[in-house]
Amino acid sequence: MSVGKVKMENPVNTTLEIQNRQIAHGYKVKMGLLFVKILNAPKFAVLVGTLFVATVAVPVLNRQLVLHAAPTPVGKAEAGKAFWQAQMCQYCHGVQAEGAWGPDLASRGLSEAQIKHALRQPYGLMPAYVETQVSEQTIADLQAFFSTLPKAEQFGPWRWQSPPAGAPEGQRLQSAFGCGQCHEPELAIPRRWLGGVGKDADFAYFSKQIYRHTEKYPQGKMGNFSEDRLPTMVLRVIYQFMLDAGFRAPIAASLKVGAREDPNTTYTLTLFNDGVAQRGLDAEDVTIFLKIPSGAKFVSETGAGFKGVLPLAQLGIAPSIANTPGRFDPSPTPKLPERPKPDFSGEVAVWKVPRIAAAETQTYTLTLLGPTAEIYRIPGPGPTGQVFKGFEGSTVYWAKPGVRMGPPQLVYRDLRLPDKGDQVAVTAAPQN
Ligand code: HEC
Ligand code: HEC
Repeated sequence: MSVGKVKMENPVNTTLEIQNRQIAHGYKVKMGLLFVKILNAPKFAVLVGTLFVATVAVPVLNRQLVLHAAPTPVGKAEAGKAFWQAQMCQYCHGVQAEGAWGPDLASRGLSEAQIKHALRQPYGLMPAYVETQVSEQTIADLQAFFSTLPKAEQFGPWRWQSPPAGAPEGQRLQSAFGCGQCHEPELAIPRRWLGGVGKDADFAYFSKQIYRHTEKYPQGKMGNFSEDRLPTMVLRVIYQFMLDAGFRAPIAASLKVGAREDPNTTYTLTLFNDGVAQRGLDAEDVTIFLKIPSGAKFVSETGAGFKGVLPLAQLGIAPSIANTPGRFDPSPTPKLPERPKPDFSGEVAVWKVPRIAAAETQTYTLTLLGPTAEIYRIPGPGPTGQVFKGFEGSTVYWAKPGVRMGPPQLVYRDLRLPDKGDQVAVTAAPQN
């Protein structure tokens, strides 16, 4: 049952609001009411009394009944583990909750109440998580799960180290406030989100995504940052860094295998610009190349702008890197990660198109002679995509909008991104 929102106009024209969502939050209503009483003292006691009966007393009573009827949730460690593995808490707290950017949580004897407090009203820099993200039941599950984990002897490394001195101020600040543990050193993923909104991605829009994140993503994996802990002043510098580095076109590229017509297999490539129509950024001057697995032979293709099959080394564009290079160097004198040498071997089928507009979908097919390639998950740390064997390095590259801030300014980098232009790896779509 929901109580909703009560608005009271009092004779001195002050609007008082009591906001309440659920019976389980009944105590909030009581506190709200107390506040009203103190403010309005005897004068409006009658008004308040009436409202109390009409809107609050019944739910509060109900809540007590509910509390008696429903015992506190019993935590299930298995469910807690599943949640932990699916969420990004571990990006800050370590895979085994051994501590990293955030403190260790494993076998520290944290109570449900302590975990709940840390999530709803974080003590420090951690973003706050709401009920729709981490429920009471999940808190109980996490409590049970944490107690099954080995107590940490020592902290694990940060997922991503701090940018070195000399890095842009906004980049250092995003790391200091924890964004980079999830979003990596260049904030490449959120820059892609902002590019999707394009013309509407001003600071007001951006700051809303940070401070009131769960309005748009009630089930999202990122929590709400507090303006007290992450002041607007700081957030502006982070925003400026994202602008300077450049918003990105949100292109997604996935490959699917169609029906096999022996001895040929046709693969369908779908390109999608995830941006808002007319608002988001278009990718311009686009080159698409699919690697031809060794042992397979080109038969035919469909789609606009086909340029033929040629050795990748002749194309002059580096193939995408499948896995995230870099992260943390735990040595006492950490070195910056280096980009792995690109693999220019093999031949590629190439298409060139002027643009992929925001919200546009384009389709290409490639028919090859040879066995159907198998899908596998790219090995490596963290969440990685899946690809067709032999197609690794297949890429969609666009010259504009490209990165606006390259080396030497940007010393600490997302090494999957090119120094000029921008690109995305072609992944295997889940087959149905
Ligand atoms: C951006 C990094 C970050 C993320 C993501 C994060 N935390 Fe935290 N967490 C912290 C930091 C830092 C602290 C220390 C207190 C603070 O800053 O609020 C903390 C504190 C805690 C505490 C209290 C520990 C204590 O000693 O009392 C708990 C419990 C906790 N986090 C659980 C979680 C859970 C569950 C999630 C995922 C839903 C999560 N955290 C996501 C950084 C993070
Ligand atoms: C726990 C990992 C995590 C942390 C920490 C984090 N984010 Fe996010 N962020 C996400 C995820 C995941 C999304 C996608 C929506 C969702 O699931 O919440 C997202 C979405 C965004 C978006 C896009 C929202 C939109 O719709 O336009 C922006 C911008 C963003 N984050 C910026 C930041 C900044 C800046 C910080 C640091 C102040 C930060 N994030 C911290 C995980 C994180």
